[in-house]
Amino acid sequence: MNKTIIYNEENSLLQLGDLAVKNNWEKLFFVTGKKSFESTGAKKKILDQFSMAQVTFFNDFEVNPKLNDVYKGIDIFSSSKADVIVSIGGGTAIDMAKLINSLSCVDGNPEDYATGKVKIDRVAVPHVAVPTTSGSGSEATHFAVVYVNGSKYSMACDLLLPSYVILDPNLTLSLPPYITAYTAMDALCQAMESFWSVGSTEESSEYSLKAIQLVLENIKNAVNSPDINSRKALQEAANLGGKSINLSKTTAAHALSYFLTSKFGLPHGHAVGLMFGWVFEQNSQVEDSTCNDPRGKSFVISRLEELAEFFNVEKLEDFPGVFYGLMEDIGLKIDAVTLDFKTVENLFKSVNIERLGNNPAKIDLSSADGFIDFFKQIKGI
Ligand SMILES: [Fe+2]
Repeated sequence: MNKTIIYNEENSLLQLGDLAVKNNWEKLFFVTGKKSFESTGAKKKILDQFSMAQVTFFNDFEVNPKLNDVYKGIDIFSSSKADVIVSIGGGTAIDMAKLINSLSCVDGNPEDYATGKVKIDRVAVPHVAVPTTSGSGSEATHFAVVYVNGSKYSMACDLLLPSYVILDPNLTLSLPPYITAYTAMDALCQAMESFWSVGSTEESSEYSLKAIQLVLENIKNAVNSPDINSRKALQEAANLGGKSINLSKTTAAHALSYFLTSKFGLPHGHAVGLMFGWVFEQNSQVEDSTCNDPRGKSFVISRLEELAEFFNVEKLEDFPGVFYGLMEDIGLKIDAVTLDFKTVENLFKSVNIERLGNNPAKIDLSSADGFIDFFKQIKGI
C-alpha cells in the first residue's frame, strides 16, 4: 500500500506552499466544497501562498459524486495542466479528487472503470487531501464512491490513497453543531462497524479502538462548546476510523443507511447512526447458524461487549438505548424520519445483500415488523 505522508498540526495548510516548492508543483488544481472553502478559512490560506496564475478551482458538483460531475472536473483539470490535485472539503470533495485523478488518464470508457468492470492502474498526478469535516476519513481510504445513472459504486484501488494528507484542525473550527455531530457519528460508526466486521484485523482493530475512544471523549464538547483540542481529536478520530475501514470495510449499518440518505436527504452520519443501534441489537442475537465470522459466535459477542464497555453498558440489550441517548444529546434526532411499514419494506429491499457478508451476523430482512417494534420501544411508544 502507498504510504501517505500526514501533516497534522494547527494551521498545517500553510505548509502547502513549501510542499509545492519541494515537489516542483507549479500549477495546482483544487477540488473544493462550495461555501465551506471560504467559511473554513481555507481559501484565504491558499491565496496567501499561491498566485492566481498557479491555481484552478473546481467546485461544480453535488454531495455524493456523480459521474457526470466527474467529467466536468476532468475537462477543467485537463486544461489546467496542473501538476497536483488538492482536495479541500468533506468526503465528497476528496472522493471527487480521487475520481478526477484516476478517470482522467484511463484508456477507453471511464464508466467501465467507475463501475468496476475494469480496474484502474494509474493516476494522473499526486493528490493532497485536506479534510474540512471530521467524519468520512476518505483521506485515509483507497475507495471512492461514485454514482453512475443513479446507482452507487465504490471504486477501490491502492492508487486512490492520497500522497499527502493535511489535517489542519483550524479548518474545522467553524463547523456548525449539527454537521459536527453527524460527521463525528459517521466516524464513530465506521470505527465500531470496522471493529465487529468479518474483515477486521489486528491492525484495523487498533485504529478502531483509538478512534472510538477519541470520539466518545470529545464529541459532546466539539458539538456544544468546541475548542481546538476537541476539534483536533475528532479530526484524528475520523482519520483513524478511515484507516480502520480502509482495511476492513463497513457493515450492515452503512449498507442500510444509504436508502435514508437518498430517500429523505438525511445526512450520511445521521442515517448511519439511526441504523447502528438496530444492527447492534441484531448482531447481539447471533447464533452459530447465523454467524458470518469464521472466528465464531463467542468472538462476535466479545467484540460487542468491548464496544458496550466504552458506553459503560454491562448488558448488550441495554446498548441501543444508551447509544440513541448519545445521539439525542448531540442533536441527532432518532425520529428525524418516519419509518412506517412501507418505508421499512423499501429500505430492506434497497440493501445489496452481498454487502451484508461483512456483517458479523446474518440479518433477517424478510419482515419489517421486528424493526418497527424495536424503534417503538426505543422511542417509548
Ligand atoms: Fe460513512
